[in-house]
Amino acid sequence: MKPEEILSLAEFESIAPEHMSPMALAYVSGGAADELTMHANNEDWRRIKLKPRVLVDVSHLDLSTELFGHKMDTPILLAPAAFHRLFHPDAELATVAGANHAKATMVMSSYATEAVESVTAVAKHPIWFQLYTQTDKELTREMVERAQAAGCKALCVTVDTPVLGARHRESRSHFHLPADFKLPNLNLGAISHRPVRGAIYSELLNPQLTWKDIEWLRSIAKVPLLLKGVVNPDDALHAANSGVDGLIVSNHGARNLDTLPSTAQALPRIAEKIQGRIPLLVDGGIRRGTDILKAIALGATSVLVGRPYLYALAAAGSQGVARVLEILKTELEMAMALTGRTTIKEIDRSVLWE
Ligand SMILES: Cc1cc2nc3c(=O)[nH]c(=O)nc-3n(C[C@H](O)[C@H](O)[C@H](O)COP(=O)(O)O)c2cc1C
Repeated sequence: MKPEEILSLAEFESIAPEHMSPMALAYVSGGAADELTMHANNEDWRRIKLKPRVLVDVSHLDLSTELFGHKMDTPILLAPAAFHRLFHPDAELATVAGANHAKATMVMSSYATEAVESVTAVAKHPIWFQLYTQTDKELTREMVERAQAAGCKALCVTVDTPVLGARHRESRSHFHLPADFKLPNLNLGAISHRPVRGAIYSELLNPQLTWKDIEWLRSIAKVPLLLKGVVNPDDALHAANSGVDGLIVSNHGARNLDTLPSTAQALPRIAEKIQGRIPLLVDGGIRRGTDILKAIALGATSVLVGRPYLYALAAAGSQGVARVLEILKTELEMAMALTGRTTIKEIDRSVLWE
């Protein structure tokens, strides 16, 4: 099937199993434990009802926003995901080509299978770097400096993964990195990703990360520093008071701790605490333009999308990634027009049926 014949993100998900190994499918599609939060992430956006507004001139729609001084053409970013080579031989280079086509920002994972310099060299829109800090501080510093030197425009420190969650689909598929895989952004020797030290720790994750390290990172970062993986409103407030530049409200696609609230539930609570002091982004279960409209109404400046573009990357490479972004953008435009909003700024809670 040609990418342009795909009409919704769900359709990419339904054809994805034909285009990836059972192990890659288990890796991308799974959530933690009983996957209750994973389902809630999807369903809670859908449960929110919209309030239409009629007789507004919607002949011109503007989806642009501004984040950290950069104009973004759409409020939709690609969420960081490790190991794109599992899904396509051109790996992150295919992903960034898709992002280029849709004029979108890609947040590149620390555990990308292409070097950050190769990605930024071909990117036409800002690349942000997602940072998994290392227990070796010098290694972390090296990653930060390298990402900045490569031209990454923001750093997103993932703070919700001191250990992995109970990922049964991954375990049952005997998830492992193929022998020829390299993680070129990390100066470590052979690595395994699955827990190795005792039952829960992983060589690739830092269980010692604390607020002190965030202060240190803020002091060495020359670009905006965001925390990714904040759900607790008190943590959000602590972050804003610590000089962090932005937050990504995220439960890691519900891959770590099950029975957390969905991000649709968490976002308004965090927005209430933050009162616009720093920008909030959100991810988890964003599958429709209406989900994006609702996220913005509840206080997000932008959203990130994860699994759908990985399914599309496997099914149709860069064109698939571009198609996911195009579908979301078009659906958002439709939702804005049908609720009588012509710019992102005009979207507030009055667009919700509450
Ligand atoms: C296969 C996969 C790999 C991921 N790898 C990372 C990663 O390397 N770093 C990170 O911060 N988040 C990672 N995430 C989480 C995503 O950035 C994002 O929070 C989540 O996928 C959003 O939910 P969604 O998939 O429902 O859109 C990963 C998610 C998936 C599905």
